[in-house]
Amino acid sequence: MSTVAAFALALGLIFVNLTGHCDGALQVGFYRGKCGLLDVESIVRAVVTVKFLKDRTIAPALIRMQFHDCFVNGCDASILLDGNSTEKTAGPNLSVRGYEVIDAVKDAVEKFCPGVVSCADIIAIATRDVVYLSGGGKYSVETGRRDGFVSLAKNVKLPGPTITVSQSIAVFAEKGLDATDMVYLLGGHTIGVAHCNLFQARLYNYKNTGKPDPSMDLSLLETLKKMCPQNSTGFNTVNLDQNPKSASIVDNSFHKQIKMHRGVLQIDQDLALDSLTKATVDKVANGFDFSTKFGRAMVKMGAIQVLTGKQGEIRKSCRAVNRRF
Ligand code: HEM
Repeated sequence: MSTVAAFALALGLIFVNLTGHCDGALQVGFYRGKCGLLDVESIVRAVVTVKFLKDRTIAPALIRMQFHDCFVNGCDASILLDGNSTEKTAGPNLSVRGYEVIDAVKDAVEKFCPGVVSCADIIAIATRDVVYLSGGGKYSVETGRRDGFVSLAKNVKLPGPTITVSQSIAVFAEKGLDATDMVYLLGGHTIGVAHCNLFQARLYNYKNTGKPDPSMDLSLLETLKKMCPQNSTGFNTVNLDQNPKSASIVDNSFHKQIKMHRGVLQIDQDLALDSLTKATVDKVANGFDFSTKFGRAMVKMGAIQVLTGKQGEIRKSCRAVNRRF
């Protein structure tokens, strides 16, 4: 390469890098060099690991939190804001957990480098870390999000467990995610639990037939009936991944289970039955690269309607917007 060409290439690279910063796109390693000599992602990982070792269920809690944050107003930590009518008070969010984990991470990063790390990025990094700690792969997380100002319960329009596959595809498409992304992302149900009231109709009165869902594996039906007796409060919980050996491991076991008619939620089971998603479910269940693909889908979900650059703010507390004078 001639000196001129090399110079032009170098200039080009600098320009790309500069524009990368100016247009505020998300990037891997956004916090590199922004917290003195400290590595922000290592601080997050240290706090999350301590919390995880005390309570492994923070893993499903944070994965679900990221989904519920990103699908309402984008990934802007709006789910974290406290208040009378904020997102966290909306029905589907009442069982979202893990807020104290985010608080603990925020306290730690604020101690080392105040006003630098957004709550929206903390959700993304912490979620990546719990996926890894739960046996999923370690994907590179993109960062550079800023925190939003708006959080309203009335904006929470998350899909419910009886949504049809085609409706769900439409909801994901609105967020820029395709049906394949959706099949991988619903693989989030490879860990964590569901309350009985969210699928009880499948056990006793499927679509008002007075009978169970005929598509459900009979031994699963018996197990779930024991866990969720008819006319009970519906507050009991059962694992979303019904392979006991894998119920808290991030892997493709959920897809294998739904292929065997052992999905707990209606939508989970339907993924394996509907012609729109069946082939992808088969591919995931038979594949060896779930971790990589799930990670990729999580990164894609993490980029929904993000605030970057000068938009939004870096909150001091993840539970409140900064005071503006
Ligand atoms: C059509 C889309 C989806 C529907 C209808 C749905 C529905 C549900 C429901 C009904 C529960 C049980 C909640 C409870 O009993 O309190 C649940 C739990 C969960 N969901 Fe989803 N979900 C969807 C997509 C996703 C996505 C995309 C992810 C993550 C990538 C995810 C991750 C989780 C996790 C990890 C749990 C367990 C939470 C825990 O144990 O605390 N879900 N979901």
